[in-house]
Amino acid sequence: MDVVVIRQTEAEDIIVITQLAYDLLPERYSSGVFSSLFERFPHGMLVAQEGPVIVGFLLGIIPAEDSARVLMLGVQPGCRRKGVGTGLLTAFRNAMDAFHVTSIYLEVMTTNDAAIAFYRKNGFEIQERMKNFYVTGEDAFLMRRTLTPLSARVPSPS
Ligand SMILES: CC(C)(COP(=O)(O)OP(=O)(O)OC[C@H]1O[C@@H](n2cnc3c(N)ncnc32)[C@H](O)[C@@H]1OP(=O)(O)O)[C@@H](O)C(=O)NCCC(=O)NCCS
Repeated sequence: MDVVVIRQTEAEDIIVITQLAYDLLPERYSSGVFSSLFERFPHGMLVAQEGPVIVGFLLGIIPAEDSARVLMLGVQPGCRRKGVGTGLLTAFRNAMDAFHVTSIYLEVMTTNDAAIAFYRKNGFEIQERMKNFYVTGEDAFLMRRTLTPLSARVPSPS
Protein backbone atom coordinates (compact mmCIF):
# COMPACT_ATOMS: atom_id res chain seq x y z
CA MET A 1 0.00 0.00 0.00
CA ASP A 2 1.37 3.44 -0.98
CA VAL A 3 1.29 6.51 1.23
CA VAL A 4 -2.26 7.49 2.10
CA VAL A 5 -3.02 11.19 2.29
CA ILE A 6 -5.98 12.43 4.32
CA ARG A 7 -7.41 15.66 2.96
CA GLN A 8 -10.54 17.76 2.90
CA THR A 9 -13.06 16.88 0.21
CA GLU A 10 -13.24 18.90 -2.97
CA ALA A 11 -16.37 19.31 -5.09
CA GLU A 12 -15.09 16.88 -7.74
CA ASP A 13 -14.77 14.10 -5.10
CA ILE A 14 -18.51 14.01 -4.44
CA ILE A 15 -19.27 11.44 -7.16
CA VAL A 16 -16.63 9.05 -5.80
CA ILE A 17 -17.83 9.53 -2.21
CA THR A 18 -21.41 8.82 -3.29
CA GLN A 19 -20.28 5.56 -4.89
CA LEU A 20 -18.12 4.57 -1.90
CA ALA A 21 -21.01 5.16 0.49
CA TYR A 22 -23.16 2.91 -1.70
CA ASP A 23 -20.49 0.20 -1.85
CA LEU A 24 -19.34 0.24 1.77
CA LEU A 25 -22.38 1.14 3.89
CA PRO A 26 -25.69 -0.70 4.25
CA GLU A 27 -27.78 2.47 4.50
CA ARG A 28 -29.08 4.05 1.29
CA TYR A 29 -28.77 7.81 0.82
CA SER A 30 -30.13 10.00 -1.96
CA SER A 31 -27.28 11.38 -4.06
CA GLY A 32 -28.27 14.96 -3.19
CA VAL A 33 -27.30 14.34 0.45
CA PHE A 34 -23.61 14.42 -0.36
CA SER A 35 -23.52 17.71 -2.26
CA SER A 36 -25.79 19.34 0.29
CA LEU A 37 -23.49 18.25 3.15
CA PHE A 38 -20.54 19.56 1.17
CA GLU A 39 -22.20 22.94 0.73
CA ARG A 40 -23.27 23.15 4.38
CA PHE A 41 -20.12 21.94 6.13
CA PRO A 42 -17.12 21.05 3.94
CA HIS A 43 -14.84 20.98 7.04
CA GLY A 44 -16.51 17.71 8.07
CA MET A 45 -15.89 15.90 4.79
CA LEU A 46 -12.58 14.09 4.52
CA VAL A 47 -11.16 11.60 2.08
CA ALA A 48 -8.22 9.21 2.26
CA GLN A 49 -6.35 9.06 -1.03
CA GLU A 50 -3.76 6.51 -2.08
CA GLY A 51 -2.07 7.69 -5.26
CA PRO A 52 -4.94 8.80 -7.50
CA VAL A 53 -7.52 6.59 -5.76
CA ILE A 54 -9.86 7.58 -2.94
CA VAL A 55 -9.87 4.59 -0.60
CA GLY A 56 -11.88 5.96 2.30
CA PHE A 57 -14.05 8.82 3.46
CA LEU A 58 -15.60 10.36 6.55
CA LEU A 59 -18.60 12.67 6.67
CA GLY A 60 -19.37 14.59 9.83
CA ILE A 61 -21.38 17.59 10.97
CA ILE A 62 -21.89 19.75 14.04
CA PRO A 63 -25.61 19.37 14.77
CA ALA A 64 -25.39 21.04 18.17
CA GLU A 65 -23.01 23.73 19.31
CA ASP A 66 -20.78 21.60 21.50
CA SER A 67 -20.73 18.18 19.77
CA ALA A 68 -19.69 16.86 16.40
CA ARG A 69 -21.32 13.80 14.85
CA VAL A 70 -19.80 11.27 12.47
CA LEU A 71 -22.48 10.44 9.91
CA MET A 72 -20.55 8.05 7.67
CA LEU A 73 -17.13 6.44 7.65
CA GLY A 74 -15.87 3.80 5.28
CA VAL A 75 -12.61 2.33 4.04
CA GLN A 76 -12.23 0.07 0.98
CA PRO A 77 -11.93 -3.58 2.10
CA GLY A 78 -8.44 -3.96 0.57
CA CYS A 79 -7.13 -1.04 2.63
CA ARG A 80 -8.50 -1.96 6.07
CA ARG A 81 -6.45 -2.62 9.22
CA LYS A 82 -3.74 -0.27 7.99
CA GLY A 83 -4.68 2.79 9.99
CA VAL A 84 -6.73 4.56 7.29
CA GLY A 85 -9.92 4.71 9.37
CA THR A 86 -7.95 5.96 12.37
CA GLY A 87 -6.29 8.56 10.15
CA LEU A 88 -9.68 9.83 8.98
CA LEU A 89 -11.07 9.96 12.51
CA THR A 90 -7.98 11.72 13.86
CA ALA A 91 -8.10 14.29 11.05
CA PHE A 92 -11.80 14.87 11.79
CA ARG A 93 -11.07 15.37 15.48
CA ASN A 94 -8.30 17.82 14.64
CA ALA A 95 -10.58 19.70 12.22
CA MET A 96 -13.24 19.95 14.93
CA ASP A 97 -10.79 21.67 17.30
CA ALA A 98 -11.40 24.89 15.42
CA PHE A 99 -15.11 24.64 16.31
CA HIS A 100 -14.46 24.07 20.05
CA VAL A 101 -16.58 20.94 20.29
CA THR A 102 -16.26 18.99 23.52
CA SER A 103 -17.21 15.57 22.17
CA ILE A 104 -17.71 13.51 19.03
CA TYR A 105 -20.53 11.00 18.78
CA LEU A 106 -21.94 8.57 16.26
CA GLU A 107 -24.40 5.74 15.86
CA VAL A 108 -23.30 2.25 14.87
CA MET A 109 -25.29 -0.92 14.25
CA THR A 110 -25.19 -3.16 17.31
CA THR A 111 -24.20 -6.04 15.00
CA ASN A 112 -21.23 -4.19 13.44
CA ASP A 113 -18.54 -5.74 15.64
CA ALA A 114 -15.65 -4.47 13.49
CA ALA A 115 -16.76 -0.85 13.67
CA ILE A 116 -17.53 -1.09 17.40
CA ALA A 117 -14.02 -2.49 18.03
CA PHE A 118 -12.59 0.25 15.82
CA TYR A 119 -14.38 3.05 17.67
CA ARG A 120 -13.47 1.60 21.08
CA LYS A 121 -9.83 1.49 20.00
CA ASN A 122 -10.20 5.16 19.11
CA GLY A 123 -11.47 6.16 22.54
CA PHE A 124 -15.25 5.97 21.99
CA GLU A 125 -17.54 4.41 24.57
CA ILE A 126 -21.05 3.03 24.23
CA GLN A 127 -23.51 5.39 25.89
CA GLU A 128 -26.85 3.84 25.07
CA ARG A 129 -28.72 1.42 22.85
CA MET A 130 -31.19 3.08 20.49
CA LYS A 131 -34.06 0.74 19.58
CA ASN A 132 -35.19 0.59 15.92
CA PHE A 133 -32.75 3.31 14.95
CA TYR A 134 -32.37 2.13 11.36
CA VAL A 135 -35.12 1.85 8.75
CA THR A 136 -34.46 -1.91 8.74
CA GLY A 137 -35.54 -1.97 12.40
CA GLU A 138 -32.00 -2.64 13.63
CA ASP A 139 -30.79 -1.11 16.87
CA ALA A 140 -27.84 1.27 17.12
CA PHE A 141 -25.34 1.98 19.85
CA LEU A 142 -24.71 5.63 20.51
CA MET A 143 -20.95 5.95 21.02
CA ARG A 144 -19.19 9.08 22.21
CA ARG A 145 -15.68 10.30 22.78
CA THR A 146 -15.07 13.30 25.01
CA LEU A 147 -12.36 15.60 23.71
CA THR A 148 -9.62 17.24 25.69
CA PRO A 149 -9.64 20.97 24.92
CA LEU A 150 -6.59 22.04 22.91
CA SER A 151 -5.50 24.33 25.74
CA ALA A 152 -5.41 21.42 28.21
CA ARG A 153 -3.40 19.01 26.04
CA VAL A 154 0.10 18.23 27.16
CA PRO A 155 2.50 18.92 24.29
CA SER A 156 4.31 15.76 23.16
CA PRO A 157 8.09 15.80 23.74
CA SER A 158 9.99 16.82 20.61
C1 LIG B 1 -14.73 0.45 10.57
C2 LIG B 1 -13.68 0.81 9.49
C3 LIG B 1 -13.92 2.23 8.99
C4 LIG B 1 -12.27 0.71 10.12
O1 LIG B 1 -11.32 1.16 9.15
P1 LIG B 1 -9.78 0.65 9.16
O2 LIG B 1 -9.04 1.50 8.23
O3 LIG B 1 -9.75 -0.81 8.92
O4 LIG B 1 -9.37 0.94 10.68
P2 LIG B 1 -7.88 0.98 11.32
O5 LIG B 1 -6.93 0.22 10.46
O6 LIG B 1 -7.56 2.40 11.61
O7 LIG B 1 -8.14 0.16 12.68
C5 LIG B 1 -7.70 0.62 13.93
C6 LIG B 1 -8.04 -0.39 14.98
O8 LIG B 1 -9.47 -0.60 15.05
C7 LIG B 1 -9.75 -1.98 15.39
N1 LIG B 1 -10.38 -2.67 14.27
C8 LIG B 1 -10.52 -2.21 13.00
N2 LIG B 1 -11.17 -3.14 12.25
C9 LIG B 1 -11.41 -4.19 13.06
C10 LIG B 1 -12.00 -5.46 12.86
N3 LIG B 1 -12.48 -5.84 11.66
N4 LIG B 1 -12.10 -6.31 13.91
C11 LIG B 1 -11.62 -5.96 15.12
N5 LIG B 1 -10.99 -4.76 15.38
C12 LIG B 1 -10.91 -3.90 14.36
C13 LIG B 1 -8.38 -2.62 15.66
O9 LIG B 1 -8.06 -2.43 17.02
C14 LIG B 1 -7.47 -1.77 14.76
O10 LIG B 1 -6.12 -1.80 15.17
P3 LIG B 1 -5.17 -3.02 14.71
O11 LIG B 1 -5.37 -3.21 13.23
O12 LIG B 1 -3.79 -2.54 15.06
O13 LIG B 1 -5.60 -4.22 15.50
C15 LIG B 1 -13.74 -0.21 8.30
O14 LIG B 1 -13.73 -1.54 8.81
C16 LIG B 1 -14.97 -0.07 7.39
O15 LIG B 1 -14.97 0.73 6.44
N6 LIG B 1 -16.03 -0.86 7.68
C17 LIG B 1 -17.23 -0.84 6.81
C18 LIG B 1 -18.03 0.43 6.97
C19 LIG B 1 -18.44 0.65 8.42
O16 LIG B 1 -18.86 -0.25 9.14
N7 LIG B 1 -18.34 1.92 8.84
C20 LIG B 1 -18.70 2.37 10.17
C21 LIG B 1 -20.15 2.60 10.23
S1 LIG B 1 -20.60 3.41 11.75
